[in-house]
This record gives sequence, structure tokens and C-alpha cells, in this order.
Amino acid sequence: MKGVILAGGLGTRLRPLTLVTNKHLLPVYDRPMIHYPIECLMQAGIRDVLVVTGGDHAGDFLKLLRNGKHLGLRHLEFAYQEGEGGIADALKLAEDFADGAKICVVLGDNILEKNIRHAAGEFFTQPTGAKILLKQVPDPQRFGVVRFEGEGEKRKIAEIIEKPKDPPSNFAVTGIYFYDARVFEVCAGLKPSGRGELEITDVNNWYLQQGALTHSFIDGWWTDAGTFESLHRASCLVAEGGANLA
Ligand code: DAU
Repeated sequence: MKGVILAGGLGTRLRPLTLVTNKHLLPVYDRPMIHYPIECLMQAGIRDVLVVTGGDHAGDFLKLLRNGKHLGLRHLEFAYQEGEGGIADALKLAEDFADGAKICVVLGDNILEKNIRHAAGEFFTQPTGAKILLKQVPDPQRFGVVRFEGEGEKRKIAEIIEKPKDPPSNFAVTGIYFYDARVFEVCAGLKPSGRGELEITDVNNWYLQQGALTHSFIDGWWTDAGTFESLHRASCLVAEGGANLA
């Protein structure tokens, strides 16, 4: 399985910091943000990685990551996203890199306490389809959120809603996704949402409608780091307890 880190977008919620650097190069405690999704993939045994980035400071990724060997990567590639067309728009750029293989996609601003080895192993044995990772959060309005149907053993995901005003649960869809090669056809067929982006939630709902979406729950803490509040929280969580520990 190959790894794709999506580190494009303009990081407007972190201005003025992101006027002079890319959001994913900002420090989270003692390391640049992009180191955490790289470590997350490596802890899951994935060492062939594509970083999709964009904006005015994309060249700085090369200075920091070079060929990735010093970080333990086997192969590191970069792709450049024009503009800020959404997560699924950035993902389109990974088609040649994936070359028909299954992929694990990690959003560049997502940080986890524990590794995702178990979920990666489950997806490895899942013949086709996609897998998402869920986490209970106090502020589901900020995320893609699942609506469940049924109870107990029979509980199933009925729908994923992007940033719902009235969330049907407090289970957020985290920014770690597993896909088979069909994901690129799905992305190619998407229409921009109301906010003008190609939404990863539409991709996940497509797999759900095909009966091909599985899910697991994340163990340990999980946070994004795309706002001042969450960036600060991420630094504190890493300082207190580390991240992506084996
Ligand atoms: O963090 C998990 C959440 O991430 C999910 O629950 C949501 O369903 C998903 O839409 C996303 O929500 P955000 O609003 O937090 O996404 P954001 O626009 O902050 O983008 C997250 C990362 O995706 C960002 O750090 C880089 C990458 N990205 C984003 C955009 C809009 C790109 O590579 N290109 C883009 O055009």
C-alpha cells in the first residue's frame, strides 16, 4: 500500500502565519506539522509516499524533506495543487503515483497519539472499497460526521454529512482514509460543493452507497491543527504525551 499526504490549500484560517510559510511547515511542539502524517504512515509500514502541496511556499517542503531517506522513507514524491479546490481535488493528483495500488490518505494537518497499524492491516485484507476512521469529538460541527442507523451489533453508517449545523452524532470522520484504485474515477466525477470544493465526504458517501465502506474507531487522542485553537491543542497533546507512538 502507498501513502498520500494532502498538504495543499492556503491555510487561510492561520493567517498571518501562513502568509510567510505553508501551514504544514508550522511547528507542532518540536517538529514541523508534516512530520506527523509521515510518521503515521511509516508506523503503519508505508514507506512510499506522495506529498501533495501548493501555494507560494511549496519549495520549502523540498528543503525540509529532501528525498525522505533521513526520515526513513523509501520513496518520496511531490505534486503541486493549483489553487484550493478541495481535498478530493488534491487527491486527483495522486493517480499516477498510486498506479493501481491501494492507498492510505492522511490529511497533512491530522495528528494522532497512536499508530494506525491495525486499521491498515484490516484494509490490506479488505478486497476492495474504502475505509474511514472515526473518533468521538466534542465539536462535531467542524468535521464530516456520521449518521448511524440501527442499534448495537446492527449499527451501520447511513450517511456522512460535512460540517452539519445539527450533528446526528459526535463521531467525526478523521482525515485518515483508505481507498482502492476506483477512488480516482470517483474524484473525476465529483461536482464542487456549495463552498466550491471537491469534498472528500462525497467520495466516502459514494463508497457507502456501493456498500463498500468499512470503518474503525481511533484509539488514543486525535486532532487536526488547522485553526489557532487546534494548533495550540496539538502542540500541548504532543508535548504531554508524544504522537504516533509505536
Ligand atoms: O480533519 C478531518 C476533517 O478534514 C474531516 O472531518 C472533514 O470531513 C474534511 O472535509 C476535512 O475538513 P477541514 O475543513 O478541516 O479541511 P481543511 O480545508 O482544513 O483541509 C484539511 C487538509 O486537507 C489541509 O491541511 C490540506 C488538505 N487540503 C485541503 C484543501 C481544501 C488540500 O491538500 N487541498 C485543498 O484544496
